[in-house]
Amino acid sequence: MSDRKTKNGQEVWSGRFSEPTDAFVQRFTASEAFDRQLAIVDIAGSRAHAEMLASAGVLTADENVAIQQGLTDVLAEIESGVFEWRVEREDVHMNIEARLTELIGDVGKKLHTGRSRNDQVATDLRLFLREALDAASAALTHLQLGIVTLAEAHTNTVMPGFTHLQVAQPVTFGHHLLAWNEMLERDYDRLIDCRKRLNVSPLGAAALAGTTFPIDRHATAKALGFDAPTRNSLDSVADRDFAIEFCAVAALAMNHLSRISEELILWTSAQFGFISLPDRFCTGSSIMPQKKNPDVPELVRGKSGRATGNLVALLTLMKSQPLAYNKDNQEDKEALFDSVVTLNDCLRAFADMIPAIQANEETMRQAALSGFSTATDLADYLVRAGVPFRDAHEVVGQAVAHCVAVQCDLADLPLKDLQGFHGSIEEDVYDVLTLDGSVAARNHCGGTAPSQVKAAAQTARASLEARPFVTQ
Ligand code: ARG
Repeated sequence: MSDRKTKNGQEVWSGRFSEPTDAFVQRFTASEAFDRQLAIVDIAGSRAHAEMLASAGVLTADENVAIQQGLTDVLAEIESGVFEWRVEREDVHMNIEARLTELIGDVGKKLHTGRSRNDQVATDLRLFLREALDAASAALTHLQLGIVTLAEAHTNTVMPGFTHLQVAQPVTFGHHLLAWNEMLERDYDRLIDCRKRLNVSPLGAAALAGTTFPIDRHATAKALGFDAPTRNSLDSVADRDFAIEFCAVAALAMNHLSRISEELILWTSAQFGFISLPDRFCTGSSIMPQKKNPDVPELVRGKSGRATGNLVALLTLMKSQPLAYNKDNQEDKEALFDSVVTLNDCLRAFADMIPAIQANEETMRQAALSGFSTATDLADYLVRAGVPFRDAHEVVGQAVAHCVAVQCDLADLPLKDLQGFHGSIEEDVYDVLTLDGSVAARNHCGGTAPSQVKAAAQTARASLEARPFVTQ
């Protein structure tokens, strides 16, 4: 094949056609503009296939050498940018094969023996996604390490914890950061889990039913780093559930990043003032000279929409397709590629930005002091003195209403006033009404006490440092 057009002016598959493809249809059905991203893995797959054909005696050793050399030259052209992508050659597979044949002559036409673009593209996608998954796992690990490092520096820093975005109870900043780490830890587990199902080789399924040639699917699977060949040829070319799974993992991870973004955006506002981001992660306004906008988290929050959209697109693409391969599946690529780029870029941006966060500890502490965040501690104090929790809740509610009326905090009330709400209150009540007393009292695994946060950060660090992506 020297071109998608044959000598009589028609496409390579045109034997049974009586007229050439309409020019618009040619453009409409082509995917080379976007699937060229698969070129490197496509060539890797072709190399493994040709080696295997030579071992099986389907190609001669010389033919294999010529094909391997030709593929090296094609790859060099692609990498240096001189490769001429042609829409009339439809997709990445036929562009590469046609160029190979131009370079090495008719032996290039033998490469496609015993395979189809259907198993070829399924193989390419798995190889491509495997690399993307590994890159995402590494970037995520890097980000988590940044979060844990920041948490270690703030095991004692007190801030308000929120429910309904209203001050709820004091927590340590380190505890809040480790909550982010837990969210991302589950995303990491999902990436690893997705990789297990992804890493099998469809090569050899050919169009749908396998091939009549004496192929060795175990050999190609091994050469390409797959754990095993897939078990059913129809399923091998038909399903893209591995791509859907990745998009689902990416959508969830981006969802988590959007929640973290939202908190960063709130916390950098003048109203919160909990943290500052270095200038290099922000931009100014073209009209308002005072502005420093948190662009990076805002963009990450915005980009999470794409990840959800790509997941829905792929689910909808696959729904109701009969077995085996259908051209619909050519539409899987742009959504998948976009999720790959979106997730990896956002992880990278966050991994750079999070360790550079400056915590404004005094502002956080003041905010925790100003929202009756220790009211539950007062109720718990009364319970320890024998008051049923429901009654204690009622008593503290009355004390808070009084403080609101006279504009002070619970800890500002003199003992006599506090005793007016309940006779069992003693001088030691002030120990629980302070922020430090409140956080220190939540001293159990998973709690916000500084000692617990320190231990949790240590455990998190040890597990992150044991990951294969971390160089010690
Ligand atoms: N470009 C196609 C795709 O991405 C490759 C497979 C084409 N197979 C076929 N029978 N037309 O799905």
